[in-house]
Amino acid sequence: MITQNIAKDAEKKNLTRRQFLRTGCMALSGAAIGSGAQRLLGAGSPKPIEVRNIDPGFIGPQFFDKREEEALLEVLESGSPFRFWGPGKPTKVLRFEENFAEYMGTRFALGVSSGTAALDCAVAGLGIGPGDEVIVPAYTWWSDYTCVVQAGALPVFADIDRTLNIDPKDFERKITPRTKAVIAVHLLGGPCDMDPIMEIARKRGVAVLEDCAQCVGGSYSGKKLGSIGKVAIYSFQINKVITSGEGGALVTDDPVIYERAARFHHMGIIDRVFRNRVGGSQVQTFAGENFRMNELTGAVIGAQLSKLDLMVAQLRHNAEAIYDGIRKLPGIRLRHRPAPEGDIGYGVYFEMKDKAARNRCIQELRKRKVPASTLTGSVLLPVAESVINKRTRHPNWPSFNSPEGKKIKYGPDSCRQTLDVFDRFVQVRIGPKYTERINDYIIDAIRQVYNALA
Ligand SMILES: Cc1ncc(COP(=O)(O)O)c(C=O)c1O
Repeated sequence: MITQNIAKDAEKKNLTRRQFLRTGCMALSGAAIGSGAQRLLGAGSPKPIEVRNIDPGFIGPQFFDKREEEALLEVLESGSPFRFWGPGKPTKVLRFEENFAEYMGTRFALGVSSGTAALDCAVAGLGIGPGDEVIVPAYTWWSDYTCVVQAGALPVFADIDRTLNIDPKDFERKITPRTKAVIAVHLLGGPCDMDPIMEIARKRGVAVLEDCAQCVGGSYSGKKLGSIGKVAIYSFQINKVITSGEGGALVTDDPVIYERAARFHHMGIIDRVFRNRVGGSQVQTFAGENFRMNELTGAVIGAQLSKLDLMVAQLRHNAEAIYDGIRKLPGIRLRHRPAPEGDIGYGVYFEMKDKAARNRCIQELRKRKVPASTLTGSVLLPVAESVINKRTRHPNWPSFNSPEGKKIKYGPDSCRQTLDVFDRFVQVRIGPKYTERINDYIIDAIRQVYNALA
């Protein structure tokens, strides 16, 4: 009875979802639409098209279908939403971890409750603590900073460059004898310049933690992002590629890092499944957290994983079409992409000559209903008030009480290059369901605006 009701509800929800998607697709396709639509003429385009705001949408949810629905129902019917035990035989997180490791080309994967939790586990896995320094890009999401501070270690910022990711030269400059790791964050769908980063890290004995939260499914020189450094993390929050609303994962080839991370995510103890995976424990029990992934999350993210290649292919197709359409604009400076074939196409990025021109460009593109903005999804960390003031949850927290912690100064002077890059870049978001007409429309709009302002 309960199951029937669930199925009926799901059917109802499915209908609503379909209706919703249909409406969404109209807005995306630029098909003729009723009141509120605006008629816009693209210069040089043969036919006028009518467009509401072009909405890239959240990526993963546009691909929700029977696979997620059936996997969720299986969990509910089995009565086992917890990963380790229950009346049924829970397998969703287990299978997801196996499939995710295989997809990423690593020995081990661990499903966790968020990307932030995955970072905390990775830092615990690497054994980072008080007295250690970790190099973090000056422009990234909070979690790359908080995972270092929560471990009692000291975050040291390195600038980003025109890749919109960490500048390998500044990473090298920031290394000291206390540097234990660097977080190479593949931001905004684009891989970091991994060859020089790995070369410097190897030479100087620094561990590389890849943060792939914003670039799930990306690659560099034929290797999946996350399989290059010592350990890597992913996020499945709704703004990312595949999603279960919240969720995250960690991957590594190293059994000790994996065991430490698996212990940290489960109170410091080790479950049989992880002990078996690493072929016997090498680490003693220590104080951990509860960052476990549940079976409902495992069900959804497992289904989403089977569509990751499709999502990335569609995003990439649209992004490359737009890059191709604008790369010949005289003097245009596109995002420097060290591995364009591994870019997942989250957005198209180009530079204007200064902040005023960038703002004008965004304003004009938005007037034309193009989803343009400054860079999004991250924070200029060294200029955030709580960072400048080195605020922690306790005044005696070790991060900023060491001699180096007391000495270090954050603020705008510590990240001039990052601020400059941030101020000049325009982002145009890409949707996986954009049509050729939408792509052409965006190309026309960028051409018009860029030519007028350059
Ligand atoms: C680069 C980066 N790292 C880590 C995270 C943290 O992921 P979550 O939101 O799942 O905790 C995010 C989320 O926005 C992110 O963008």
